[in-house]
Amino acid sequence: MNITICFDKLDPAPWVQGLQHAFPQAIVTAWVPGAPQADHAIVWAPPQKFIDEQPGLQTLFNIGAGVDALLQLKLPTHLKVVRLDDAGMSVQMAEYVCHAVIRHFREFDGYDSDTQSGKWSYRKPRSRAAFAVGVMGLGVLGERVAKALQVFEFPVNGFSRSPKDLPGIRCFSGAQGLSEFLAATRVLVNLMPLTPETENILNHATLSQLQKGGYLINVARGKHLVEEDLITLIDGGHLAGATLDVFRTEPLPAGHPFWQHPQITVTPHTSARTLREESIAQIVGKIQALQRGEAINGVVDHQRGY
Ligand code: NAP
Ligand code: GLV
Repeated sequence: MNITICFDKLDPAPWVQGLQHAFPQAIVTAWVPGAPQADHAIVWAPPQKFIDEQPGLQTLFNIGAGVDALLQLKLPTHLKVVRLDDAGMSVQMAEYVCHAVIRHFREFDGYDSDTQSGKWSYRKPRSRAAFAVGVMGLGVLGERVAKALQVFEFPVNGFSRSPKDLPGIRCFSGAQGLSEFLAATRVLVNLMPLTPETENILNHATLSQLQKGGYLINVARGKHLVEEDLITLIDGGHLAGATLDVFRTEPLPAGHPFWQHPQITVTPHTSARTLREESIAQIVGKIQALQRGEAINGVVDHQRGY
């Protein structure tokens, strides 16, 4: 068996080492142009040249949950694209989103600025019942986030492409469901994949349907959000602010209005990081399952886009 590794920026060396350790008989290498044909590839944002030079590949293991960058390439239809299936990401995403929701709900930014100026002051407790959190995308990460939010007794709504029935979560789906979901939501958490259907879905028309004083947490992809529309709705007073982990251009360019906006919190695409050991273990398990002729989880549907 021949395994190749092709990453956009990340150092492939520890991944080569980890996979070689798991498959001592295999040839495991970091890809270079002109390298021999591989059976399986572990990739993050590979160039088209890599795909074109490796027509014999059976499986492309993406070292992230989102496959939008991969599906922009011209891929042979027989090629199995496999996403990371949690591998330690969902707990990180639950931490990040609960932290952002609670920081906003409890007004911790306001307390920080008060205490920094030596001010001992109380804010009126807010009604939890009036802080329904809506999770857009109820997949591997969204469902875990929704369940984590329930622990803090926020009312939780969920939105997905296909109808769902999750205990204690008001689930909505489809175009009609989207309007009802937004109208029932104060804090919106985006955890949908980026596909032609979801690109720019967070825009003036949708965000203005959130309850007054609404708040956005975007942890999926920057291209879901029409950035100017968010600023218009915050500056106009309909939205209270946003926590953003992903951006149309990353790194977020110097001088971008998000950096300095007092109601926007920016983090550098770090809400759920790929954990190397967990990811290698998952990919190794899947290669072994494929060798036994078994089906594996996380195979991407090229048509659906996730
Ligand atoms: P997933 O398991 O594929 O779940 C996607 C969810 O979105 C599903 O519930 C799906 O509905 C729903 N969905 C897809 N298209 C939709 C549409 N047009 N309308 C409504 N709902 C739609 O994905 P995941 O593992 O939870 O990850 C979600 C995304 O998070 C990734 O694609 C990636 O972009 C992002 N992410 C970001 C970070 C970060 O660090 N910021 C880290 C990891 C992942 P169905 O259930 O009906 O199929
Ligand atoms: C990160 O953004 C991922 O898709 O895993």
